[in-house]
Amino acid sequence: MTSDGTPGERAREDRVRVAILISGRGSNMAALIEAAADPAFPAEIALVVSNRPDAAGLLRAAQAGIPTAVVDHKPFGKDREAFDRTMDTVLRAHGIEIVCLAGFMRLLTPWFVGRWEGRMINVHPALLPSFKGLDTHARALAAGVRLHGATVHLVVPEMDSGPIIVQGAVPVGDDDTEASLAARVLAVEHRIYPLALRWLAEGRITVDAGRCRIAGAAAPDGVTIAPSM
Ligand code: GAR
Repeated sequence: MTSDGTPGERAREDRVRVAILISGRGSNMAALIEAAADPAFPAEIALVVSNRPDAAGLLRAAQAGIPTAVVDHKPFGKDREAFDRTMDTVLRAHGIEIVCLAGFMRLLTPWFVGRWEGRMINVHPALLPSFKGLDTHARALAAGVRLHGATVHLVVPEMDSGPIIVQGAVPVGDDDTEASLAARVLAVEHRIYPLALRWLAEGRITVDAGRCRIAGAAAPDGVTIAPSM
């Protein structure tokens, strides 16, 4: 309880400290910062870290008043674990409890993933386990899928493979291009990533045989058909 005892103040004090790792423009980072701007959100964005000094998201974070750090991967060469150990030191120095990967385009070592097991999440622009890796929208179009989307999952050492927390689907139209599909999926990413962070910060996620259970989730209902007539 704070000196004046207001619920907002108390929520701020109790909030889980989150770092967002980026490599680029940081639109998902911005969505998380915006969600956490609500004092009732259970997590606070305490740090943004980039492996690229020129990542546009760094400026965006600084403008939002979030502390930023750069751990440039280049001086580490092929020594991925040395890079990861330096990042881990930075995260611990800031008292970070949850790590969100938001367009962080570096493979992480099993050592780092193990350190943050159950406390690190990633957003991926596809309905996993389909279209792991890069160029997901081009591959979805080439495959002719009618539903595409985005996934937030817990991070495990294998790329784009951890237990799935939440997914959002979008229809794929006959005239979609890679750009139009990417824009539709990105809007979904911005909706589902704050949800996943909220649930993780609230301690509502458990993993059972590789499957996430979300305490309090509504029973499934309805069906999505694409295309519609
Ligand atoms: C997002 O679409 C994210 O899902 C993707 O990079 C983009 C980053 O955009 N991540 C991956 O492909 C990781 N497998 P942002 O910097 O604007 O958030």
